[in-house]
Amino acid sequence: MKKVTLSEKLTVFPMPAAVLSVGTGEEANLITLAYVGKVCLKPPIVVISIQPKRHSYHLIEKHSEFVINYPTVEQLKELDYCGTRSGRNVNKWKELNLTKENGSIVQVPMIKEFPWNMECKVINRLELGSHVCYFGEVVATHSDPKYVKNDNLDPNKFNFFAYISGNYIGLKKGAIEKHGFTEE
Ligand SMILES: Cc1cc2nc3c(=O)[nH]c(=O)nc-3n(C[C@H](O)[C@H](O)[C@H](O)COP(=O)(O)O)c2cc1C
Repeated sequence: MKKVTLSEKLTVFPMPAAVLSVGTGEEANLITLAYVGKVCLKPPIVVISIQPKRHSYHLIEKHSEFVINYPTVEQLKELDYCGTRSGRNVNKWKELNLTKENGSIVQVPMIKEFPWNMECKVINRLELGSHVCYFGEVVATHSDPKYVKNDNLDPNKFNFFAYISGNYIGLKKGAIEKHGFTEE
């Protein structure tokens, strides 16, 4: 097989695409991010990357907190809207009829209608170039009970999607195998 060489800017692996809440009170805003990933288990730490030109950037800088809200495939429209409009011009909560729900630890509101929310506190930041990367410690996680089995996410109830190179890709329901299945 002769492989073709592509731009090093291309990303071929799946990314999550989530809607982050940032800021508090009337200033609270929503932004869609694909640059989101878990990087440490103990303590649980995620990274997100955001461009300084975004309205949301200033709100993260101001409060050092954010919430990762993860949508189902039926909420793709809300996710795309939050990633194509700026909070400088529209109130995304109002336009999308989304409800602010208090978190248990951070002051930034969660999206009530989204089934999975992770409250995070910024513990470090790195200026990388086009994006500023924030390390956030996950201080609380909430889930709609319908996706939970034995205190974990139930893979047979997943109704999520991934983001690959500009496309929203549906994830078929059901795990194809479990972590460690080759050891059994
Ligand atoms: C699927 C998707 C993924 C995105 N990922 C990022 C990202 O990781 N980092 C970023 O700075 N902007 C990202 N954006 C762009 C912002 O969400 C977009 O510019 C948004 O309108 C900024 O909102 P704000 O000005 O209210 O902060 C993404 C947009 C979409 C649709």
